[in-house]
Amino acid sequence: MKTPVRIAVTGAAGQISYALLFRLIAGDLLGPDQPVILHLLETPEARAALDGVAMELDDCAAPLLHDYVLTDSATTAFDAVDLAFLVGARPRIAGMERKDLLEINADIFRTQGRALNERAKRNARILIVGNPANTNALIAWSNAPELGADNFSAMTRLDHNRAVTLLAHRCESPVSAVKGVIVWGNHSNTQFPDLHHASVDGIPALERVGWDWYEQQFIQTVQVRGTAVLQVRGKSSAASAAHAALGHMRDWVLGTPADDWVSMALPGDGSYDVEPGLVFSYPVVVRDGQRHIVRDLSINRFCAERMKQTEAELAAERAVVQHLLGRRTP
Ligand code: NAD
Ligand code: LMR
Repeated sequence: MKTPVRIAVTGAAGQISYALLFRLIAGDLLGPDQPVILHLLETPEARAALDGVAMELDDCAAPLLHDYVLTDSATTAFDAVDLAFLVGARPRIAGMERKDLLEINADIFRTQGRALNERAKRNARILIVGNPANTNALIAWSNAPELGADNFSAMTRLDHNRAVTLLAHRCESPVSAVKGVIVWGNHSNTQFPDLHHASVDGIPALERVGWDWYEQQFIQTVQVRGTAVLQVRGKSSAASAAHAALGHMRDWVLGTPADDWVSMALPGDGSYDVEPGLVFSYPVVVRDGQRHIVRDLSINRFCAERMKQTEAELAAERAVVQHLLGRRTP
């Protein structure tokens, strides 16, 4: 039997985790022959609910579930973990922007960044889902000086998936025909969904859909899709978020498809003129376990302006949480 992989999930009794955990023990992340040990973190208040989730995990009799740890201690939760999904954080309610959650959620990520620094494996892959995801990732990373930028990312995969589906529907093509979509910047309504390098069935996407639809409908529809789901469902996206988290982590561990890239937010290195250190969503490929920003894509003035706008929002969010940033302040 393979050595079990230790996977931490925070907010393990919440709605995203409820859609995530049962897929982790079904092999949807690492395949049907990879056992897992789940490290499940919750607040003390949610402990009873977590016990209930654990009962249901047991009741699956899942061969891949080697063991689980239930805890309200971040250091216990992150002890020797290989992978970590940082989901636990308050979701927004109608009328809020994600950045309105900063004051409420940011401190969670300072505590957890420190605990990861102390306990996680040095090559751990850590995905921040809790909103506002990019700036929470910045806080966690800056509080983990023994870990590197390569250990951290924030989730814009849900935005990427939304963009792929919207484009595919417009072209009446399957989602598998869509390649080269990019979501730049923040997981917020300043994100820039870019089709300049995208194709559908091998034909440039902008030729297929036309400029007016792209500029006047596509960009905004993707930017506000989270709000639209919240309005209709009464709660923020959960199953689609869990699916995006699985896709993000699977590509990070096992590699991205040979003929495409994905969008991932990560501590930037100055690529595309974005201030180094901001956790910014880029087109990314993963080869042999190494993550690389796709370089040298041409950026016209239209795109550059939108990338600057979302970068400015990230810099403003950083200013709000300056007091929580750790030793390695980018
Ligand atoms: P939820 O309220 O259903 O669950 C959150 C859980 O986190 C709760 O059970 C709560 O007890 C727990 N929690 C709170 N503080 C914690 C802490 N310090 N340690 C451990 N657990 C803690 O919320 P949800 O719908 O599962 O959403 C979780 C987060 O994910 C929200 O911030 C939401 O906005 C965000 N989200 C992000 C994306 C994205 O694309 N990046 C998509 C959807 C949702
Ligand atoms: C989403 O994009 O669906 C999530 O970030 C939840 C939200 O608040 O919109």
